[in-house]
Amino acid sequence: MRVLITGGAGFIGSHVADAFLAAGHEVGVVDDLSTGTRENLDLRVRFWPVDIRGPDLPAILADFRPEVISHHAAQMSVSVSARDPKLDADINILGTLNLLEAAVRTGVGRVIFASTGGAMYGDQVAMPTDESAVPRPVSPYGVAKLAVERYLHAYQAMHGLRAIALRYSNVYGPRQSPHGEAGVVAIFSRGILEGRELIVHGDGGQTRDYVYVEDVVRANVLATTLTLGQELPLLNIGTGTEASVNELVSLFGRIAGRKVSWRHGPARPGEQRRSVLDCGLAKRLLGWEAGTDLRAGLARTFRWFEEVLRGQNPRQP
Ligand SMILES: NC(=O)c1ccc[n+]([C@@H]2O[C@H](COP(=O)([O-])OP(=O)(O)OC[C@H]3O[C@@H](n4cnc5c(N)ncnc54)[C@H](O)[C@@H]3O)[C@@H](O)[C@H]2O)c1
Repeated sequence: MRVLITGGAGFIGSHVADAFLAAGHEVGVVDDLSTGTRENLDLRVRFWPVDIRGPDLPAILADFRPEVISHHAAQMSVSVSARDPKLDADINILGTLNLLEAAVRTGVGRVIFASTGGAMYGDQVAMPTDESAVPRPVSPYGVAKLAVERYLHAYQAMHGLRAIALRYSNVYGPRQSPHGEAGVVAIFSRGILEGRELIVHGDGGQTRDYVYVEDVVRANVLATTLTLGQELPLLNIGTGTEASVNELVSLFGRIAGRKVSWRHGPARPGEQRRSVLDCGLAKRLLGWEAGTDLRAGLARTFRWFEEVLRGQNPRQP
């Protein structure tokens, strides 16, 4: 297959690219390198360093003729979306429409969309939350992801475009950027290794469903095999278990084998208190479930950051 991965120079997208390459497929990447890096790209990838909002996509798609598009390019920070909702909508909604228009024109067989489970449902729902819960996103980022899911449904109805949305919980693992405001595992890993004090926002009792990037990658590969009908599959991709930030800090203490110093900082306004996904539908439709437990995933992530800081890993964050 030829698989085009938007955002393939970023954290999750680059792991997805590696998996498709390893399975023997041809991989193309479109990424404007706004947060992604060339170091994340395997040399076998065909790379177009362009913005998904720009005019280049029809020519790229006509040239590469992908059977599958895995759409990971996005403004991915909830806090940036709160500060600048227009920027978020410009990239995450209008950029995606630009991609979908080109996909329809070139007759792409399938679009796999990196949606959100963590920012989709809001606080007012049963936990763990399954896909039947009415989406109540409380951030512009979550609203944009929901809008794209609805557009995919409309494009399926209007143009027969086949699509599937994977609603990720909080993804962590090697190559996640420790420089932004999101990605607590990356931020804590780097902070501990640099001997800095960790900041726990609020009381640290807020929970998330932390899923290891390799498990997310497996869901993407399986999503290429699912038979698609008239309904757009929306699948939660998480672990079904939640962990608080306080629990993360204590797990890191054991993994790092050193004293981790931390203090409470101000709570983040509007931050969701709990988030945990019921992933039974992904198990039924894809035969997928998360296989990496939190302690093992954190340990692997921490070791990777340790190697990077020692200059041992060529594919740096
Ligand atoms: N990390 C998570 O926990 C998580 C959870 C749910 C969903 N997602 C989604 O998964 C996808 C990947 O997220 P990530 O965590 O790997 O973030 P990331 O920032 O590492 O990856 C996003 C990539 O998209 C690229 N990009 C951004 N704007 C672009 C544009 N206008 N044109 C072309 N490329 C552009 C960036 O350079 C980057 O390489 C995003 O769609 C994100 O919303 C992530």
